[in-house]
Amino acid sequence: MNLVLMGLPGAGKGTQADKIIDKYGIPHISTGDMFRAAMKDETELGLKAKSFMDKGELVPDEVTIGIVRERLSKEDCQNGFLLDGFPRTVPQAEALESMLNDLNKKIDYVINIDVDQDILMERLTGRRICKSCGATYHLVFNAPKVEGVCDRCGGELYQRADDNAETVQNRLDVNIQQSQPLLNFYETKGYLRNIDGQQDIHKVLADIEQLLGGLR
Ligand code: AP5
Repeated sequence: MNLVLMGLPGAGKGTQADKIIDKYGIPHISTGDMFRAAMKDETELGLKAKSFMDKGELVPDEVTIGIVRERLSKEDCQNGFLLDGFPRTVPQAEALESMLNDLNKKIDYVINIDVDQDILMERLTGRRICKSCGATYHLVFNAPKVEGVCDRCGGELYQRADDNAETVQNRLDVNIQQSQPLLNFYETKGYLRNIDGQQDIHKVLADIEQLLGGLR
Protein backbone atom coordinates (compact mmCIF):
# COMPACT_ATOMS: atom_id res chain seq x y z
CA MET A 1 0.00 0.00 0.00
CA ASN A 2 1.77 3.15 -1.23
CA LEU A 3 0.03 6.25 0.11
CA VAL A 4 0.51 10.01 0.17
CA LEU A 5 -1.30 12.05 2.82
CA MET A 6 -1.94 15.66 1.83
CA GLY A 7 -3.59 18.56 3.62
CA LEU A 8 -2.84 22.07 4.79
CA PRO A 9 -0.97 22.51 8.10
CA GLY A 10 -3.31 21.38 10.88
CA ALA A 11 -5.61 19.39 8.58
CA GLY A 12 -4.94 16.27 10.66
CA LYS A 13 -2.26 14.44 8.64
CA GLY A 14 -0.16 13.42 11.66
CA THR A 15 -3.23 12.46 13.70
CA GLN A 16 -4.53 10.15 10.98
CA ALA A 17 -1.06 8.88 9.98
CA ASP A 18 -0.53 7.47 13.49
CA LYS A 19 -3.69 5.41 13.21
CA ILE A 20 -3.19 4.31 9.58
CA ILE A 21 0.33 2.95 10.17
CA ASP A 22 -0.87 1.01 13.23
CA LYS A 23 -3.65 -0.63 11.27
CA TYR A 24 -1.83 -1.33 7.99
CA GLY A 25 1.73 -1.89 9.27
CA ILE A 26 3.45 0.48 6.85
CA PRO A 27 6.19 2.99 7.77
CA HIS A 28 5.27 6.62 8.39
CA ILE A 29 7.51 8.97 6.42
CA SER A 30 6.95 12.52 7.63
CA THR A 31 9.39 15.08 6.25
CA GLY A 32 8.45 17.45 9.08
CA ASP A 33 9.33 14.76 11.69
CA MET A 34 12.58 13.98 9.87
CA PHE A 35 13.59 17.65 9.90
CA ARG A 36 12.64 18.02 13.60
CA ALA A 37 14.72 14.93 14.50
CA ALA A 38 17.70 16.37 12.59
CA MET A 39 17.24 19.71 14.37
CA LYS A 40 17.23 17.95 17.75
CA ASP A 41 20.47 16.13 16.83
CA GLU A 42 21.94 19.41 15.52
CA THR A 43 23.05 17.78 12.26
CA GLU A 44 23.93 19.79 9.16
CA LEU A 45 20.50 18.96 7.72
CA GLY A 46 18.84 20.07 10.96
CA LEU A 47 20.63 23.41 11.02
CA LYS A 48 19.71 24.03 7.39
CA ALA A 49 16.03 23.07 7.92
CA LYS A 50 15.71 25.17 11.11
CA SER A 51 16.30 28.45 9.31
CA PHE A 52 13.27 27.77 7.07
CA MET A 53 10.98 26.03 9.57
CA ASP A 54 11.34 28.76 12.20
CA LYS A 55 9.89 31.22 9.68
CA GLY A 56 7.19 28.84 8.45
CA GLU A 57 8.78 28.57 5.01
CA LEU A 58 9.38 25.45 2.96
CA VAL A 59 12.78 23.76 3.12
CA PRO A 60 14.28 23.91 -0.42
CA ASP A 61 13.15 21.15 -2.78
CA GLU A 62 16.61 19.69 -3.41
CA VAL A 63 17.16 19.11 0.34
CA THR A 64 13.71 17.62 0.91
CA ILE A 65 13.78 15.41 -2.18
CA GLY A 66 17.19 14.05 -1.14
CA ILE A 67 16.04 12.84 2.29
CA VAL A 68 12.88 11.23 0.87
CA ARG A 69 14.84 9.44 -1.86
CA GLU A 70 17.15 7.95 0.74
CA ARG A 71 14.26 6.97 3.07
CA LEU A 72 12.16 5.30 0.35
CA SER A 73 15.06 3.07 -0.67
CA LYS A 74 15.18 1.47 2.81
CA GLU A 75 14.12 -2.14 3.30
CA ASP A 76 11.03 -1.34 5.43
CA CYS A 77 9.40 0.47 2.48
CA GLN A 78 9.36 -2.71 0.36
CA ASN A 79 5.72 -3.47 1.25
CA GLY A 80 4.42 0.06 1.27
CA PHE A 81 4.71 3.45 2.91
CA LEU A 82 2.71 6.43 4.07
CA LEU A 83 4.21 9.75 2.99
CA ASP A 84 3.02 12.64 5.19
CA GLY A 85 3.78 16.23 4.17
CA PHE A 86 5.67 15.23 1.04
CA PRO A 87 5.30 16.18 -1.76
CA ARG A 88 4.38 19.81 -1.10
CA THR A 89 5.36 21.34 -4.44
CA VAL A 90 4.95 20.18 -8.06
CA PRO A 91 8.75 19.70 -8.49
CA GLN A 92 8.68 17.43 -5.39
CA ALA A 93 5.75 15.48 -6.89
CA GLU A 94 7.63 15.07 -10.19
CA ALA A 95 10.73 13.90 -8.30
CA LEU A 96 8.59 11.38 -6.38
CA GLU A 97 7.21 9.98 -9.66
CA SER A 98 10.74 9.48 -10.91
CA MET A 99 11.95 7.88 -7.61
CA LEU A 100 9.02 5.46 -7.63
CA ASN A 101 9.62 4.62 -11.28
CA ASP A 102 13.22 3.71 -10.43
CA LEU A 103 11.97 1.51 -7.58
CA ASN A 104 9.28 -0.04 -9.79
CA LYS A 105 6.47 1.21 -7.54
CA LYS A 106 3.45 3.42 -7.96
CA ILE A 107 1.20 5.46 -5.71
CA ASP A 108 -2.16 3.85 -4.86
CA TYR A 109 -3.86 6.94 -3.47
CA VAL A 110 -3.12 10.55 -2.64
CA ILE A 111 -5.47 11.20 0.28
CA ASN A 112 -6.22 14.90 0.68
CA ILE A 113 -7.62 15.80 4.11
CA ASP A 114 -9.77 18.76 3.26
CA VAL A 115 -10.39 21.41 5.96
CA ASP A 116 -11.55 25.05 5.66
CA GLN A 117 -8.62 27.43 6.10
CA ASP A 118 -10.31 29.47 8.82
CA ILE A 119 -10.28 26.70 11.44
CA LEU A 120 -6.62 25.72 10.96
CA MET A 121 -5.18 28.56 13.07
CA GLU A 122 -7.17 27.36 16.11
CA ARG A 123 -6.17 23.74 15.52
CA LEU A 124 -2.45 24.57 15.32
CA THR A 125 -2.12 27.06 18.16
CA GLY A 126 -4.01 24.63 20.45
CA ARG A 127 -1.93 21.57 19.49
CA ARG A 128 0.21 19.83 22.11
CA ILE A 129 2.60 16.93 21.45
CA CYS A 130 4.08 14.29 23.75
CA LYS A 131 7.85 14.68 24.25
CA SER A 132 8.28 10.93 24.72
CA CYS A 133 6.03 9.14 22.21
CA GLY A 134 5.01 11.96 19.81
CA ALA A 135 1.24 11.51 20.33
CA THR A 136 -0.76 14.59 19.25
CA TYR A 137 -3.45 16.32 21.33
CA HIS A 138 -5.50 19.51 21.20
CA LEU A 139 -6.38 21.66 24.20
CA VAL A 140 -10.06 21.68 23.15
CA PHE A 141 -10.73 19.16 20.34
CA ASN A 142 -8.66 16.24 21.62
CA ALA A 143 -7.65 17.05 25.20
CA PRO A 144 -5.57 14.63 27.29
CA LYS A 145 -7.28 13.21 30.40
CA VAL A 146 -4.78 15.03 32.65
CA GLU A 147 -3.63 18.48 31.53
CA GLY A 148 -0.04 18.46 30.20
CA VAL A 149 0.33 14.65 30.45
CA CYS A 150 0.19 12.09 27.61
CA ASP A 151 -2.66 9.53 27.94
CA ARG A 152 -0.63 6.92 26.08
CA CYS A 153 2.73 6.98 27.92
CA GLY A 154 2.54 9.58 30.72
CA GLY A 155 5.09 11.81 28.94
CA GLU A 156 5.15 15.59 29.16
CA LEU A 157 3.27 17.58 26.50
CA TYR A 158 4.86 20.54 24.69
CA GLN A 159 3.98 23.08 22.00
CA ARG A 160 5.87 22.94 18.69
CA ALA A 161 8.13 25.96 18.08
CA ASP A 162 6.35 26.74 14.78
CA ASP A 163 2.86 26.63 16.32
CA ASN A 164 2.85 30.29 17.44
CA ALA A 165 0.25 32.49 15.68
CA GLU A 166 2.72 34.45 13.53
CA THR A 167 4.57 31.40 12.16
CA VAL A 168 1.32 29.48 11.68
CA GLN A 169 -0.04 32.32 9.53
CA ASN A 170 3.04 32.17 7.30
CA ARG A 171 2.90 28.35 7.09
CA LEU A 172 -0.73 28.59 6.02
CA ASP A 173 -0.01 31.28 3.40
CA VAL A 174 2.95 29.34 1.95
CA ASN A 175 1.10 26.02 1.84
CA ILE A 176 -2.13 27.45 0.44
CA GLN A 177 -0.13 28.89 -2.44
CA GLN A 178 1.49 25.52 -3.23
CA SER A 179 -1.47 23.23 -2.68
CA GLN A 180 -3.79 23.86 -5.66
CA PRO A 181 -1.20 23.12 -8.39
CA LEU A 182 -0.29 19.94 -6.48
CA LEU A 183 -3.95 18.87 -6.19
CA ASN A 184 -4.35 19.49 -9.93
CA PHE A 185 -1.23 17.39 -10.63
CA TYR A 186 -2.64 14.39 -8.75
CA GLU A 187 -6.21 14.87 -9.97
CA THR A 188 -4.93 14.62 -13.56
CA LYS A 189 -3.06 11.42 -12.71
CA GLY A 190 -6.21 9.94 -11.14
CA TYR A 191 -4.65 9.32 -7.69
CA LEU A 192 -6.46 12.04 -5.73
CA ARG A 193 -9.13 11.17 -3.14
CA ASN A 194 -10.63 13.92 -0.98
CA ILE A 195 -11.65 13.22 2.61
CA ASP A 196 -13.73 15.62 4.71
CA GLY A 197 -11.32 16.57 7.52
CA GLN A 198 -13.82 18.70 9.44
CA GLN A 199 -15.54 15.70 10.92
CA ASP A 200 -14.68 14.12 14.25
CA ILE A 201 -11.19 12.46 14.24
CA HIS A 202 -12.73 8.95 14.34
CA LYS A 203 -15.10 9.68 11.47
CA VAL A 204 -12.20 10.98 9.32
CA LEU A 205 -10.35 7.72 10.04
CA ALA A 206 -13.45 5.66 9.19
CA ASP A 207 -13.69 7.37 5.79
CA ILE A 208 -9.99 6.71 5.10
CA GLU A 209 -10.36 3.07 6.13
CA GLN A 210 -13.36 2.69 3.85
CA LEU A 211 -11.30 4.04 0.95
CA LEU A 212 -8.33 1.77 1.76
CA GLY A 213 -10.59 -1.26 2.14
CA GLY A 214 -10.92 -1.22 -1.65
CA LEU A 215 -7.18 -1.86 -2.03
CA ARG A 216 -7.10 -5.12 -0.08
P1 AP5 B 1 5.04 19.40 9.08
O1 AP5 B 1 5.56 18.86 10.34
O2 AP5 B 1 4.71 18.47 7.98
O3 AP5 B 1 3.83 20.34 9.43
P2 AP5 B 1 2.53 20.77 8.62
O4 AP5 B 1 2.34 20.31 7.24
O5 AP5 B 1 2.51 22.24 8.82
O6 AP5 B 1 1.43 19.95 9.28
P3 AP5 B 1 1.21 19.80 10.77
O7 AP5 B 1 2.07 18.71 11.34
O8 AP5 B 1 1.32 21.14 11.44
O9 AP5 B 1 -0.33 19.41 10.81
P4 AP5 B 1 -1.08 18.04 10.61
O10 AP5 B 1 -1.87 18.09 9.34
O11 AP5 B 1 -0.17 16.87 10.80
O12 AP5 B 1 -2.11 18.16 11.80
P5 AP5 B 1 -2.23 17.34 13.18
O13 AP5 B 1 -2.67 15.94 12.90
O14 AP5 B 1 -1.05 17.53 14.05
O15 AP5 B 1 6.08 20.48 8.47
C1 AP5 B 1 6.69 21.42 9.31
C2 AP5 B 1 7.68 22.25 8.50
O16 AP5 B 1 8.69 21.38 7.94
C3 AP5 B 1 7.09 22.99 7.29
O17 AP5 B 1 6.54 24.23 7.66
C4 AP5 B 1 8.34 23.14 6.41
O18 AP5 B 1 9.17 24.18 6.89
C5 AP5 B 1 9.06 21.81 6.64
N1 AP5 B 1 8.66 20.78 5.66
C6 AP5 B 1 8.01 19.60 5.94
N2 AP5 B 1 7.78 18.93 4.81
C7 AP5 B 1 8.29 19.67 3.80
C8 AP5 B 1 8.31 19.51 2.39
N3 AP5 B 1 7.78 18.42 1.79
N4 AP5 B 1 8.91 20.48 1.64
C9 AP5 B 1 9.47 21.56 2.23
N5 AP5 B 1 9.44 21.81 3.57
C10 AP5 B 1 8.85 20.86 4.35
O19 AP5 B 1 -3.50 18.10 13.80
C11 AP5 B 1 -3.40 19.47 14.19
C12 AP5 B 1 -4.23 19.71 15.46
O20 AP5 B 1 -5.61 19.52 15.16
C13 AP5 B 1 -3.90 18.72 16.60
O21 AP5 B 1 -3.97 19.39 17.82
C14 AP5 B 1 -5.01 17.65 16.51
O22 AP5 B 1 -5.29 17.07 17.77
C15 AP5 B 1 -6.18 18.46 15.96
N6 AP5 B 1 -7.03 17.68 15.06
C16 AP5 B 1 -6.64 16.76 14.13
N7 AP5 B 1 -7.71 16.26 13.47
C17 AP5 B 1 -8.80 16.90 14.00
C18 AP5 B 1 -10.21 16.81 13.74
N8 AP5 B 1 -10.71 15.98 12.81
N9 AP5 B 1 -11.02 17.61 14.47
C19 AP5 B 1 -10.54 18.46 15.42
N10 AP5 B 1 -9.22 18.57 15.72
C20 AP5 B 1 -8.37 17.80 15.01
